[in-house]
Amino acid sequence: MKKVRKAVFPVAGLGTRFLPATKTVPKEMLTVVDRPVIQYVVDEARAAGIEHFIFVTGRNKGNIEDYFDLQFELNETLERRGKTAQLDILRSMQPAAGTTSFTRQQEPLGLGHAVWCARDLVGDEPFALLLPDMIMHSEKGCMSGMVDLYNDTGSNVIAVAECDPAETHKYGIVGAGEQVGDGFEITSMVEKPKPADAPSNLYINGRYILQPDIFDLLATQERGAGNEIQLTDAMLRLGDSQKLYGYRYSGETYDCGSPEGFVEANLAFALHRKDLRPQIEAIVKRLAG
Ligand code: G1P
Repeated sequence: MKKVRKAVFPVAGLGTRFLPATKTVPKEMLTVVDRPVIQYVVDEARAAGIEHFIFVTGRNKGNIEDYFDLQFELNETLERRGKTAQLDILRSMQPAAGTTSFTRQQEPLGLGHAVWCARDLVGDEPFALLLPDMIMHSEKGCMSGMVDLYNDTGSNVIAVAECDPAETHKYGIVGAGEQVGDGFEITSMVEKPKPADAPSNLYINGRYILQPDIFDLLATQERGAGNEIQLTDAMLRLGDSQKLYGYRYSGETYDCGSPEGFVEANLAFALHRKDLRPQIEAIVKRLAG
């Protein structure tokens, strides 16, 4: 069984729900507390043993690439000024030379198409896929738990969490079959169903481990929900020849794709920080009181 070494981050989305901020700042670069959303997602992948980080970007996303570059002058200045704490933070987050790759999705044809754009960079090996709209909080990262399940079962692993049954139309929803170790067999999958058509309230929370066979299926995938090439539809076809396992994530998932989810993530992550919690608690009490 091949190790999961590479992760794909689709970061080409326009971020229309965050206009005007996203006129010039990619939505993945909006800050949650003191670091961009994308940093949390990359950290989750790194903690799961990922060695190579592949970004599928688009126009106006150049500063994501700059962000992951080494800012030599900045580091020099921090060093000269003795700002070692800040320097240590930057160094701990710095991807090693040669461990990032960037390609562009030239047209917004959907998530399935964005993932397909990474096919040459991924090559013939299983890969992790992390959607940066979602950031997670738990002691053991979501992707780390998924890698464990992958190592036990092989094949494909899709993380899910429970959503409000009235909100199934916002997500990909799976049907759950037999329990297998820490996971379960996925028996059905549908993208953004109405509550009446949803097989469950288990929604795909934006973390996947997929076999490279998905790329050939994406190449021929017809448009689905929202007239976009949907990853969910291609995964369903992958399920005809390979096992799809669900991984129930029990930590917290914050949907930074909407302004209210983004504000919630800011509050939650600030409250999780020991150095900030007392002040933030007092601020929230005062503002809400
Ligand atoms: C995508 C996936 C969907 C998943 C969601 C999680 O949808 O297609 O299955 O539940 O991400 O964020 P999108 O949010 O890109 O519309």
